[in-house]
Order: sequence, then structure tokens, then C-alpha cells
Amino acid sequence: MANILTAFFSMTGETYAGGGVVNLDKGYTHIAAEYIQEAVGGGLFHIEQVREYSADHFKMIEEAKAELQGDERPELKAYPESIDGYDTVILAFPNWWNRLLQGCFGTGKALGGHLGTGI
Ligand SMILES: Cc1cc2nc3c(=O)[nH]c(=O)nc-3n(C[C@H](O)[C@H](O)[C@H](O)COP(=O)(O)O)c2cc1C
Repeated sequence: MANILTAFFSMTGETYAGGGVVNLDKGYTHIAAEYIQEAVGGGLFHIEQVREYSADHFKMIEEAKAELQGDERPELKAYPESIDGYDTVILAFPNWWNRLLQGCFGTGKALGGHLGTGI
């Protein structure tokens, strides 16, 4: 069986879902990534940026937009020690303007995909 790493980015706190702002202890993509990892085995890696977004959802949106417009590569709190032992990296991330999140660049090897959406 393939050795798979499921790497994910997910927000906690205020986010937008189901037509309104909600407050989450654990983000939707985090939950989905846990399901995926349980199904396929292998490792689970939480992608977390050093510079955290503002707790206020609408401020956070502006910060994320600035990262996108500046084509930034935000520093991460930690990186997988190595992905050499994995055949596949599944990258799970929320849908932010139908783009790969800036904090997710450089994490993947071969990409399976999971894209969470607020709709
Ligand atoms: C900065 C930002 C941009 C977003 N852009 C979109 C979008 O373009 N389309 C969409 O359907 N949802 C969008 N959403 C909603 C997220 O995709 C949705 O809240 C997602 O489920 C969050 O996953 P998470 O709980 O794992 O962070 C956006 C959310 C944020 C915070």
C-alpha cells in the first residue's frame, strides 16, 4: 500500500461557512484531513504559519488577500522532517478564491487533492 502523507491547512476561530461567520475550535479541513488520513493511513501534518491571522474574520480576509496579492510564501511553524519516505502527499486546504493558499506552496510532492469550500 502507498505510504501517504496528508498535509493540511485549516483555520480555527472565526471563519465563514454556510452563509455566515462561525467560530470553530477545529476547522473543516482539519476534520476532513483526519478522515482522509484514517482512510488511507500514513502520516498527518498540520501546516501552520508563524504569523497568525487576526481573530476578526474580516481583518483576516484582508491579511490573506495581501499575502495573495504579494505572492508571499509565509514562514511555517514547522516542516515535515522529510517527505522522501512518502509516495504521495495529499494537500488539503480550504478554498480561498479558488487558489492554492500561499502557506501551502512548497509542501507537496505528488498531489492528491482535497479542496474545502464555504458554499
Ligand atoms: C480568506 C478566505 C477566502 C475564502 N474564499 C472563498 C472562496 O473564494 N470560495 C468559497 O466557496 N469559499 C471561500 N472561503 C470559505 C472557506 O473555503 C470555508 O470557510 C472553508 O470551509 C474553511 O475551511 P477551514 O475551516 O478548514 O479553514 C474563504 C475563506 C477565507 C477565510
